[in-house]
Amino acid sequence: MTEGKGAVGKADLIIRGARIVDGTGAASRRGDLAVADDRIVALGDLNGLKAGREIEAGGKALAPGFIDAHTHDDRAALADPLMTCKVSQGVTTVVTGNCGVSLAPLTTERRPPAPMDLVCEDPAGFFADFAGYLDALDRAPPAVNVAAQVGHATLRVGAMDGLERAASAGEVKAMRGALEDSLAAGAIGFSTGLFYPPAEAAPTEEVIEIAKGLAAFGALHSTHMRDEGDRVLDSLAESFRIGREAGAPVVISHHKCTGRQNFGRSIETLARIEAARQGQPVGLDVYPYVAGSTMLASGRALNAERVIVTWSQTRPEVAGRDLDEIAAEMGLERDAAVAALSPAGGIFFVMDEDDVRRILTYPHAMIGSDGLPHDVHPHPRLWGTFPRVLGRYARELGLFSLEEAVRKMTSLTAAQFGLKDRGVLREGAFADLVLFDPETVIDTATFDDPKRPAAGIDLVLVNGRTVWQAGSHSGARPGRALRRQDQDPPRAAAE
Ligand code: ZN
Ligand code: CU
Repeated sequence: MTEGKGAVGKADLIIRGARIVDGTGAASRRGDLAVADDRIVALGDLNGLKAGREIEAGGKALAPGFIDAHTHDDRAALADPLMTCKVSQGVTTVVTGNCGVSLAPLTTERRPPAPMDLVCEDPAGFFADFAGYLDALDRAPPAVNVAAQVGHATLRVGAMDGLERAASAGEVKAMRGALEDSLAAGAIGFSTGLFYPPAEAAPTEEVIEIAKGLAAFGALHSTHMRDEGDRVLDSLAESFRIGREAGAPVVISHHKCTGRQNFGRSIETLARIEAARQGQPVGLDVYPYVAGSTMLASGRALNAERVIVTWSQTRPEVAGRDLDEIAAEMGLERDAAVAALSPAGGIFFVMDEDDVRRILTYPHAMIGSDGLPHDVHPHPRLWGTFPRVLGRYARELGLFSLEEAVRKMTSLTAAQFGLKDRGVLREGAFADLVLFDPETVIDTATFDDPKRPAAGIDLVLVNGRTVWQAGSHSGARPGRALRRQDQDPPRAAAE
């Protein structure tokens, strides 16, 4: 803590009388915080300091802006740059390019295969090179910062004439080259979605050979694993092997155990992750819901307890409705209804609440929404993830402290991805800030009514500029493309 006089020459904004939750997990304390331009310039008792704009926090919590560790906001950041679904939750940075899907690098004339169409249906929406994508963000910035990964499915579509086989040596070389060019341009990592049709035929060795391009750039590998159900332990082993042989940190995306027969198995999976962490860097992200969401024809529809249709190209009017109801009306079984509605998306109730809680509580689990911003009737995680962790899982259920909840969405994530000077409140850090009421913060988005902003988020700043205040977007778009070369190395070892 710094005294108010001395170090600071000027401040543009002072937030006074806040409960300072600094993102590190340390106990909160009362204090003031000063911002000049895009940085935090002082923290502590700032009675001696004045600024043009002063805000009385009245004991509300002031935290680093939340970092959404897992998003599909690649195109939304350009197409809907206000990013209200995120800033209304206090999110100030999004990590894109997950599950093997990125908007670059790819030149194609055809509609991309599912699940790439969840991010972009239009072949003209893709960027031939990663520099072009990041430049587009610079030219027309969104309200939030963007750290972008390269997707394996995107590379495969660009390099291969058919996806139902392993890549040839020449195709692997082309993908590796495309990845390296993207990393040189500023991509922060390489993601796979081995679960999905565009990549399920890819053997482990294909992924390793491509991922070997990461180490020289200090970039990481994230994965939507091949199997999150019956063979989840095999998939963890495959993911660890890829990380080891490529020499890259691994992030297990949206960790879960799907299917009733696998309920409770997060006890085993977290033990495996903990064991692997003794020898290599492994992280994970998780969202706070028992339902997932992805393309409808993902095989999940058959095993889910319940399915809600999020969009359908053939029957747009059914978005938001229960698949079984629609199937009954059509006189079809579930699988035939899925075929009739596709291309389409769905929400799948496939998880156990105890597993969700256990994974959320795991100290190395980051919070990531996995929201799908283009869905007509999206999973409520798109609008509700962060306030739900704070309000439901920390405050109401007491799974962890407020400070720990904030750490999982700020410093832990910034360290994992190496996001320099973000995720903590300290002098010199970027002024990505959220002021919220710890007594009332909560998600209001539901499975029936999913596009509702959270309650209790008072003020959100990105790079020192207000994007959200008193329930409204300011219209400002101060976000930046966070290029790998301007960041810190991703965390290489256990804390
Ligand atoms: Zn995924
Ligand atoms: Cu995802």
